[in-house]
Amino acid sequence: MTKALFTRGNWGSRIGFILAAAGCAVGLGNIWRFPTVTGQNGGAAFVIIYLGCVLLLGVPVMLAELSIGRRTASDPVGAFKTIAPNSLWKAVGGLGVLTGFMILSSYCVVAGWTLKYVLVTINGQFIGASPETITHIFTTFVSDGTSVTLYHLFYVVLTVWIVTGGIEKGIEKASMILMPTLLLILLLLVLRSLTLPGASQGISFYLSPDFSKVNLSVVMSALGQAFFSLSLGMGAMLTYGSYLSKKENLVSSALYISLADTSIAFLAGFAIFPALFSVEGLSPAVGSGLIFLVLPNIFNQIPFGQLFGTAFFFLLAIAALTSTIGLLEVVVAYFIDQKKWSRKKSALLVGLGAFLFGLPSAYSNGASTFFAGFMDAIFLYFGEISLAVGALFICLFVGWKWNISAALKEIRYGCSYSLVPSIWAFLIRYICPTAIAIILIDQFLLELIGYRLTAIMALYLGL
Ligand code: TRP
Repeated sequence: MTKALFTRGNWGSRIGFILAAAGCAVGLGNIWRFPTVTGQNGGAAFVIIYLGCVLLLGVPVMLAELSIGRRTASDPVGAFKTIAPNSLWKAVGGLGVLTGFMILSSYCVVAGWTLKYVLVTINGQFIGASPETITHIFTTFVSDGTSVTLYHLFYVVLTVWIVTGGIEKGIEKASMILMPTLLLILLLLVLRSLTLPGASQGISFYLSPDFSKVNLSVVMSALGQAFFSLSLGMGAMLTYGSYLSKKENLVSSALYISLADTSIAFLAGFAIFPALFSVEGLSPAVGSGLIFLVLPNIFNQIPFGQLFGTAFFFLLAIAALTSTIGLLEVVVAYFIDQKKWSRKKSALLVGLGAFLFGLPSAYSNGASTFFAGFMDAIFLYFGEISLAVGALFICLFVGWKWNISAALKEIRYGCSYSLVPSIWAFLIRYICPTAIAIILIDQFLLELIGYRLTAIMALYLGL
């Protein structure tokens, strides 16, 4: 064990681990995607369902990943190989590593956009700009392949640099600085947004639930969002857990990480919805353009908008960075453990690969018709479907293949609560796999025949 700890690295402190894992979870998913899907799905009722998904499905899957990781002290592929040698289970780890690489390559492109927006707001380009000009700034930038590529490259290099530093001296150190900064900026933005005239309308959209808007597809969106946001289903939490010692309490760690991730997403809603409703004529349901197309229209009109706009995009850039670190680490851990490459070589080569594979994404938003839609496809197949498939197999593996009592034993190291692990065992064996299987069937039906499960059920039931 000492050898494993010595060669693979280890977290330096409990708070360092929690911040790094929370950093891995907190990302564009919280600040960009959460308000977007909340806006599209009617506000408060969605938020409540989302919270339910995090508690009932997210936390148990996170605990499953952390326990496999700590038990095996290995990358995702090695972890499955250790517990189930000579079986196909290692393919679940392999899918996770591949998914990490795929998401990383496109994620760095969007992360690059956030950096561009920091510069655009600092330069005051949004001051006095009309909605048309704001849209023009966005479309001109995203369709300029060379410029998008340069920002993408910058993110890849920054991420490689931090990951090369190792677990304690690289990832943990960076997270200890970045995460508190992120929270501070977010709180500042929330305060600004809540004190704008007309903010109360946004608060009521966000906090008064209208359950008549809820249907199965709203529940599906909440589930998908929970996995993406908590970085589950691809072995990221497994990898972060593999650098933990037996003294650590996995149950409280999973709770803290999920709480941090969910609180940041919830706060992001408070930064965005009151501001959105304070400006005439904007709708929360615009979709993915919310952040880049709609928010500048707000920073445009409010006092000190330039400052707050810059702070906002800087926040997004930091959140994205702690996630690209997590994504790269999963793939790097694979090459270190399985291929015996050095950390430096792994980070450099995987980084180069992610840069090159990110190019079609960088050119997919108007720069090249050939690659049109490439980035969206990567986020759909790897950011949604593959994560759900991975999470399903992780539940089945822990609940049914790895002896559940062995899993419970791992969880009980460092944990003094007696009831929680038993509730967890029930959720991970029955509830989680069933719920995830339903989301997957729904997704496949939508892809294959263009109907959601809800629509088919409604038809069938004559509703
Ligand atoms: N959770 C990240 C976000 O909200 C995205 C993500 C998904 C991720 N899987 C991951 C990040 C694995 C790091 C590692 O933006």
